[in-house]
Parts: sequence; C-alpha cells; structure tokens
Amino acid sequence: MAYELDQFISDCRSILSRDPGPKGREEVRAKLEHLLKNPDFIRKHASEDTPRGLHVLYEDPKLGFQILAHINDKARVSPPHDHGESWAIYGQATHYTDMTEWDREDNGADHDHAKLKPAKKYRLMPGQAGIYQDGKIHSIDYPDYARFIRVTGTNLDKIHRVRFDLKTGEVRQMTPQQAT
Ligand SMILES: [Fe+2]
Repeated sequence: MAYELDQFISDCRSILSRDPGPKGREEVRAKLEHLLKNPDFIRKHASEDTPRGLHVLYEDPKLGFQILAHINDKARVSPPHDHGESWAIYGQATHYTDMTEWDREDNGADHDHAKLKPAKKYRLMPGQAGIYQDGKIHSIDYPDYARFIRVTGTNLDKIHRVRFDLKTGEVRQMTPQQAT
C-alpha cells in the first residue's frame, strides 16, 4: 500500500509527541522521503496540475507543526536565513533545490551584523529531504516550477526569524510570507 498524507500526519503526531527533539525530527524527515515516493501524493499536491502558491496541507492543533506545499512558478534564490526557535524539513517533489548551509564566522555578539561562510552545499533531488535543526542557517536556490513539501515545527510566520545580507553583513528580521 502506498504511503498516504493521512498516514504521514499520524506518524508525525506520534513521533513528535514522543520526541520533539532532533532525533524525532530526523524520523519525520525519513517519513517525508517515503511520502514523496508516492506518485499519487505528488500528482495531487505538488505536480504541474497543482495550483501555484503556498498551501497549508496540515497544521497540528496540539503540537503546532505544519506541512506546507510550496508550488512555485518562478526560480528564486533566497538569502541565508534561520527558522528562529523552530526547525524545518524540505522535501523535494519536482525539479531540484540547491541548498547551502552556512556557519557564522563571528561570535554572534553583534545582533545587527554577521559574517557567514558556506559550510555545505548540495542539491536536493525529487524524493530527497533535508533537515535544518535549531539555529541552522541555510539558503535555497531553485529553478522555475520547482515544487517542495516543507514541514516546520510551528507556523514560522508567528515567530522571530532573521535573514542575512551577504554583501553588507546586515541581519534583518524576516516578515511573514517571506516563507522559506
Ligand atoms: Fe528555510
């Protein structure tokens, strides 16, 4: 039997109830890769036929985690950013996403400026999911029509998050709907 969205939701609930920490999230990442291998799920929620935009597939009323479908039309390069006090898992549905993970070269004492250096670069292909645990800084770069499914620990629009300007080193607060 194919692994369906409903089963994924129920697995996320039981895993994150038992272990909301990094190990539990890693289990969720592996389950998301399983879900991305279900062609019916992709067809319905993340294909050429899916209406473009950001769709909330599920938000857990008790634990607060969200499952989001990012149905993009246009290519985009994001600035490096964090996910605040939360975490994020990115699961590629179609095309690809080039990921860069960044380390801070400064000690973080200056809240308005930062010096970053790339720590890791890789391409997420369909069926693969990457995880960004507490405080991890990453940036994403995807082509036209790339679609991905994202699981976040909470609604990221409601928490304090920052993005980094690589040219000036400025650290700025992210506004809602700057999404990823
Ligand atoms: Fe992100």
